[in-house]
Amino acid sequence: MRTQVGIIGAGPAGLLLSHLLHLRGISSVVLEKRSRDHVERRVRAGVLEHGTVDTLVQAGVGARLLREGLPHHGIELRYGAESHRIAFDELLPGRSITVYGQQEVVKDLIAARLAAGGDIRFEVTDVALHALEDRPYLTFGGERLDCDVIAGCDGFHGVSRPAVPDGVLTTYERAYPFAWLGILARVPPSAEELIYARTDRGFALHSMRSPEVSRFYLQVPPDTSADDWPDERIWAELKARLETVPGFTLATGEIFDKGVTPMRGFVTEPMQYGRLYLAGDAAHIVPPTGAKGLNLAVADVRVLAEALDAFFATGSADLLDGYSRACLKRVWRAQHFSWWMTTLLHTFDTDDDYGRRLQVSHLDYITASEAAATTLAENYVGLP
Ligand code: FAD
Ligand code: PHB
Repeated sequence: MRTQVGIIGAGPAGLLLSHLLHLRGISSVVLEKRSRDHVERRVRAGVLEHGTVDTLVQAGVGARLLREGLPHHGIELRYGAESHRIAFDELLPGRSITVYGQQEVVKDLIAARLAAGGDIRFEVTDVALHALEDRPYLTFGGERLDCDVIAGCDGFHGVSRPAVPDGVLTTYERAYPFAWLGILARVPPSAEELIYARTDRGFALHSMRSPEVSRFYLQVPPDTSADDWPDERIWAELKARLETVPGFTLATGEIFDKGVTPMRGFVTEPMQYGRLYLAGDAAHIVPPTGAKGLNLAVADVRVLAEALDAFFATGSADLLDGYSRACLKRVWRAQHFSWWMTTLLHTFDTDDDYGRRLQVSHLDYITASEAAATTLAENYVGLP
C-alpha cells in the first residue's frame, strides 16, 4: 500500500491534516489505534480560538460549529469576593472565542473525511515507523504503508516521537504538582461566560458545552483518582470555590462524565526528523489553564499542510525544512501564557502568604489596567 502522507493518530491534528491535504489534492492514510466510537466520545478541550474557527470554517468543516458553537466575548476572573470581566469585545474589537467540544470537532472531521472517501483505519495495532531519513514507511497489524512523508499526530504518549533516534531531539518539560478533575453535568450553565476562580482551596473553572450541559474543573492533588470524588463531594467543592461573590448560585445536576488530567508543559525541539513531522500533542503539551492545546494542534497542521503542498507541487522542501521553526514561536508563546495563567490561578503547597499576596496583587493589576487585561485577552483569543 502506498500514500503520499502517512498520518498516525485520528485526534484533531491528524484528522484536520488529512482533510487539509485532501483539499490540496494530496493523498493520506490515517492510522488510529482506538475505535471511532472511542475518539468521538473522548471529552477534552472546549475553547476554540478565533483563528481555529476561521481555519475550520475556511476548510468547509465549520457548518455545525457555526450553528451550535457558543461565541464568547469575554471571561470572568474571580478571586477574593470579587469577579471581574475581561471584555474581549472592548479590548480586541472583532475577536472572540467559541466554546465547542473537541469531540464535536473530531466528529465533524471524521464525517468530512469519510464523506470524501478518506482512508481512516481505526483500531490498528502495533504501528511502527521505519526508514525516516529516506524512504519512510509504516507497519501496522501485519501491513505495510509506504509514504513520502510521515506525520506524527499521535499525542503525547504516541510512538512517533520515540521513533526518532536518541540525541536528536531536545525536550523541555515542567510538571505541575496538581491535576484537574473535569466533569460534564446535565445542568444549564450558571453564568453566561467562563469563570476562572482563584481561591485558597484551589482553582476552579466554570465552563459549558451547550445551554443544557455545563463543564467544570477543580484543581486536585496529582495522584487523584476520579473514584475519590463522588458527585456530592464535587458539587460541594465547586460551590466552595465558585460561590464566593454575592448573588452567585451554582446550579447542580447529573454528572455524566468524570476524568483527571495531569498538568504538564512539554516541548520537543525540533518538531521534525528526516521525513517525519510531529504535530500537536506529539510535539508539545500545555497545562489546560490557557485553553491552548487543541488550538496549537490546529496551528501546527495549518503550517504543515502549506509546507506539504509546496513540497508536492514544486519538489521544494524549503517550507518543510522550516516547519519546526515556523511553529515553535507560537508554541513557546502558548507555553508561557499557559504557565502564567496556571501560576496566577492555582494554589501551590510551597506557597506562603507572600506568594498568595503576589497572586492577588497581579489579579488586581489585570483587572485595573487596560494594558494588562489586553495582554491576557490577546493571548487567550489567540495571536493571528
Ligand atoms: P490527541 O487528541 O491526543 O490525538 C492523538 C491520537 O493518536 C489519539 O486519537 C490516539 O488514540 C492516537 N494514538 C496514540 N498512539 C497511537 C499509536 N501508537 N498508533 C495509532 N494511534 C495512536 N486542552 C484544553 O485546552 N482543555 C482541556 O480541558 C483539555 N483536557 C485534556 C485532557 C486529556 C486527558 C488530554 C490528554 C488532553 C487534554 N487537553 C485539553 C489538550 C487537548 O485536548 C490536546 O491538546 C489535543 O487533543 C491535541 O490534539 P492531537 O490531535 O495533537 O492529539
Ligand atoms: C473546557 O471547556 O473544557 C475548557 C475551557 C477553558 C479551559 C480549559 C478547558 O482553559
